[in-house]
Amino acid sequence: MNASARVLQATDLAVGFGDVPVLEGVHFGLEPQKLIAVVGASGAGKSTLLRGLSGLLPPLAGSVALAPQTDPGTRAWSMVFQAPRLLPWRRVRANVELGLEGLGLSATERRLRAERYLQQVELLEYADRWPHMLSGGQQQRIGLARALAVEPRVLFMDEPFSALDAITRRRLQQGLVQLRQRTPAAIVFVTHDIEEAVLLSDRVLVLGKERAGPATVQADLPVDLPLDDRRNAPGFRSMIQDVESMIRTTPHPADTAATESQVIEGDPPRSHG
Ligand SMILES: Nc1ncnc2c1ncn2[C@@H]1O[C@H](COP(=O)(O)OP(=O)(O)OP(=O)(O)O)[C@@H](O)[C@H]1O
Ligand SMILES: [Mg+2]
Repeated sequence: MNASARVLQATDLAVGFGDVPVLEGVHFGLEPQKLIAVVGASGAGKSTLLRGLSGLLPPLAGSVALAPQTDPGTRAWSMVFQAPRLLPWRRVRANVELGLEGLGLSATERRLRAERYLQQVELLEYADRWPHMLSGGQQQRIGLARALAVEPRVLFMDEPFSALDAITRRRLQQGLVQLRQRTPAAIVFVTHDIEEAVLLSDRVLVLGKERAGPATVQADLPVDLPLDDRRNAPGFRSMIQDVESMIRTTPHPADTAATESQVIEGDPPRSHG
């Protein structure tokens, strides 16, 4: 694949806090419509990686190139978290419009855009409800609509389905498979769940470490399975086993709860390094 078609390129990236790297030597590129899953033990640095890739954390070494968003009314990236983080005092539609403010769209354009993405997550009829009137799974879909509404070139998802029950989770996974065929965005998808990683991705990046010190990319495994009905594809289970065998369970000092930024999307031109 032509490197210039990439919307995201991490080059020997190190990220961390203060001058202490949590992760180092991260090197990968991502093209439009591709989904890379990031797995690893708790504390391995998955959320920190997303913060580094989005520019919320500056690189300690190496660089990140994120394609600037050139179309008006859009953003370079947006993020979906484990919890939907909806503002309780804004109706559903106003929550989805949140990221569109300050992008130079008229009120009508914002409204139509929000409605388009509410339709995509099949919740348009809930537009005038308050967030507390929705189930957890519905709230998470609103969070996804909000992130999609800015039409990002890269969508970062940090364990977006992990707080949901198994049935809702399956539905949303299926929804994401379909969504991928409709959106040009590239997706970086963090999950604890190896089956989910293999189910949804084109590639699985395994973060881990063998001893104290920063984590690294232990493996970058292509998933060469059809996206439709992948659970039943020959090779699905063995791929899961391959990824499991790569995950190291050795030291992961995850005793500090990470405090994530409230920032949910970023403005276009950013370059690092
Ligand atoms: N704001 C912070 N300041 C200092 N250290 C932090 C901060 N946030 C996270 N860390 C540390 O960075 C390391 C990686 O944390 P991170 O949240 O990226 O892990 P994770 O892989 O996302 O874990 P989990 O699966 O539990 O979400 C941990 O050791 C954590 O304690
Ligand atoms: Mg995390």
